[in-house]
Amino acid sequence: MKSLVIYFSRPGNNYAVGYVEKGNTEVVAEYIREFTGADLFKCDPLRPYSEDYMTCTEEAMAYQRQNARPALKTYLDDISSYDVIYIGGPIYWGELPYEVYTELDRLDFKGKIVLPFATHEGSGIANVERVLKAKCSGATVRKGLAIQGSSVRSEFAKKQVKNWVV
Ligand SMILES: Cc1cc2nc3c(=O)[nH]c(=O)nc-3n(C[C@H](O)[C@H](O)[C@H](O)COP(=O)(O)O)c2cc1C
Repeated sequence: MKSLVIYFSRPGNNYAVGYVEKGNTEVVAEYIREFTGADLFKCDPLRPYSEDYMTCTEEAMAYQRQNARPALKTYLDDISSYDVIYIGGPIYWGELPYEVYTELDRLDFKGKIVLPFATHEGSGIANVERVLKAKCSGATVRKGLAIQGSSVRSEFAKKQVKNWVV
């Protein structure tokens, strides 16, 4: 089984963790890589969000209002060699950041196994499983994993990832 992780994550100032060099979701993506040998693809925005947390929340809200598909620095167009696709990010106002949608809209998920994941500070997995079922047409979407962002750097969180991956 060949695996790929498609994710978004933002370093900088964030809720509950202060300034971090590496975003919370990226920590989870790296756990997945450690346990499965997955390749990582980060949805890296061409225009990064602001360093400042409050400004970033406003920018993310604007993307939702516009149903935007923010441009990425690089794109992935072919996932045909992968069997299992992990898709995740932080919860931004109850949803995955729209950069993830930008990437998902380009891909053909027919026959793939999709595992949703999210980091959050209270919303849990929010609407992520439901949205990925709609967006990843033809895929089998399995049960998702939600981890609180401020606890991803714990042995407990790492164990949760280990028990969840396929
Ligand atoms: C723009 C923005 C919106 C957020 N909205 C929510 C939210 O609706 N619910 C929630 O539980 N956490 C919310 N958070 C907290 C993040 O989901 C959480 O800190 C996450 O772990 C950040 O992941 P990252 O470091 O990989 O970017 C928000 C954070 C930001 C920056």
